[in-house]
Formats: sequence, structure tokens, C-alpha cells
Amino acid sequence: MSESYTYPDECTYFPVASVEELPPGGRLFLEIEGEPIVIFNIGGEFFAIRDECTHDGGPIGEGTIEGCEIICPRHGARFDLRTGKALTLPAVVDVPAYRVRVREGQIEICFPTPSSFSFREEGHDISHPDH
Ligand code: FES
Repeated sequence: MSESYTYPDECTYFPVASVEELPPGGRLFLEIEGEPIVIFNIGGEFFAIRDECTHDGGPIGEGTIEGCEIICPRHGARFDLRTGKALTLPAVVDVPAYRVRVREGQIEICFPTPSSFSFREEGHDISHPDH
């Protein structure tokens, strides 16, 4: 469906949370294979990117969302949540984006050879930003 995921082919879907745990407007912060990942529910659609800005390594996940774009809270670079594409300076390198799907009420993320993951906040802490 979408264009330029970082890992388009060789990956495996695995469940990380139930749909009820991540309502629209929510964000879920994970660590998968040592990588910080953030999953968003935007109007019922799920998107996942690496939670690390390609400009200076800052966390992106707490940034403001406008449409399907997120604004890095450190210096304001914008990224497309669907593809990870860097849209504005100071970021010039895309951030990895991951396929996400829902199966049997579970949010599944596609990741190369996943073997483990953990939630980065106590008890699946999910933030409900904005609005
Ligand atoms: S760390 Fe994200 S724009 Fe600088």
C-alpha cells in the first residue's frame, strides 16, 4: 500500500498490544531489538517509526502531530509518519518506518527477525497527547 518503508520485505509481524490499549491520539513507546520505537494511532490508523531523530538523535515520539506529520520537539524537523520521510530541515535523512497491521484485535508491527520487545514505560504507559 505505502511507498518506502525501511524494511519492506524481510520482516515478521508480531503482536505488541491490543487495539484497546492504543486509542486514537495515543502513542505507545516500545523497544524492539534495542531500537526505540513509537507507534501512533491517528484516527484509527496505526503508524510506527524509530523514536530517534535523524538530525541529532533526539526522541521524536513526543512531538506535535499535524495530520500525518510529526514535528521533532528539539529543532522542529518534520517527518511523515507513514513513510518516515524527512520533510523539512534540519533533518535530511529519513527515519525508519515500520509496517503496522491489526489482526484479531492485536496491533502487530513488522520487524526484521524480532525476538523480543519491551515497553519503555511502566505498565504499557500510553500517552494521550494534544487535543
Ligand atoms: S534532533 Fe530532531 S530536529 Fe534536531
